[in-house]
Amino acid sequence: MSLPVPYLASRTLTVVKPIDTSGARRVVNLGLNESWLGTPPGAIEAIRATAESVHRYSDPGCKAMRAAIGSTFSLDPARIVCGNGSEELLDAIGRVYARAGDEILFPAYSFLQFAIVAYRIGARAVEVPLAANFAVDVDAILAAVTPATRVVFLANPNNPTGVAVPMADVARLARELPSHIVLVLDAAYAEYVDPAEAMKNYEITDRHPNVVVTRTFSKAYGLAAARAGWAYAHPDMATALNNVRGIGNVNGMAQAAAAVAIAAQDFVREVRERTAEGREYLHGRLRSLGFELSPSVANFAFARLPGAPAGWAQETVARLARQGFVFRSNEDYGLPDWLRVTVADKADLDEMLDLLAVEVDAADTKLAVEG
Ligand SMILES: Cc1ncc(COP(=O)(O)O)c(C=O)c1O
Repeated sequence: MSLPVPYLASRTLTVVKPIDTSGARRVVNLGLNESWLGTPPGAIEAIRATAESVHRYSDPGCKAMRAAIGSTFSLDPARIVCGNGSEELLDAIGRVYARAGDEILFPAYSFLQFAIVAYRIGARAVEVPLAANFAVDVDAILAAVTPATRVVFLANPNNPTGVAVPMADVARLARELPSHIVLVLDAAYAEYVDPAEAMKNYEITDRHPNVVVTRTFSKAYGLAAARAGWAYAHPDMATALNNVRGIGNVNGMAQAAAAVAIAAQDFVREVRERTAEGREYLHGRLRSLGFELSPSVANFAFARLPGAPAGWAQETVARLARQGFVFRSNEDYGLPDWLRVTVADKADLDEMLDLLAVEVDAADTKLAVEG
């Protein structure tokens, strides 16, 4: 008997890693960069109200959702494409603009999804070296362009490092990149930076028809499970993306919630301010435990304990998960010594940090014994 053979080789790369929390009384997930601050007023009610008519198909054109996004940011709804999370849109961009054998460029230690997009279409994922402190090097990206380059992904701020790229550098990249190459500005964490800076992403798409911005409702808007994101691009690119996305890609409940949520910019401002306070607190406590930090501006810290024994970060993640605190180790990013911890409620952070302090002490003791 012969079985169908997939064209894609099997892979282990995944954005969401399984983790064993058995034995924990309660689980606090600090491993997915979700928001602990809930959803904008009216969003859950909109989901409930739409659920009443769940026997009806949702609007495949996401008209109300696009109109709401357009009016909030003064954007042209015809240039907005909605997605089943921004993840679907990143994937669609890859499928529309690159194929097997092409090159997809992104800075080293970028969001794992970029490599996954390349994998799915058989393109080559090319990682561009960074400058010091996880800073994106625009000149290095430009120097890495070859005749095979089709797409450049830039997450700003980036996950897992949390590092922002100054908008002047992004603008220069858009200016100097050959215009037949698609530049994707993945702004999933842009709500956590100055809104005026985030708006510059859209201005860049006005000047450069090869640039597309992707945004998400999964982070600051607190709608991760709804699966809603959007892209903003030149009308031709919007048409191309609409051609490949799923017809009913954004379900009616998600559309309704997103349309309400986007108008709640006061809520988003509060999320930004409280997340910044929480991040400063988390950074301070991690620093006093001896951790080195990336200069994250997003809703998570990215930290490494200098001198810790090999494997310590992964073992610590596994041990804390069994005590109910999940965060992310980053060996799959090629950064096995680094931990990513989402900002959360102070009481939860304190409880987690006390457990982490025990792990740090154990690492120090181990080093002292071995040294
Ligand atoms: C940089 C970045 N882009 C995009 C996404 C995808 O988010 P979603 O598909 O939930 O919109 C994530 C999720 O963590 C992310 O970290």
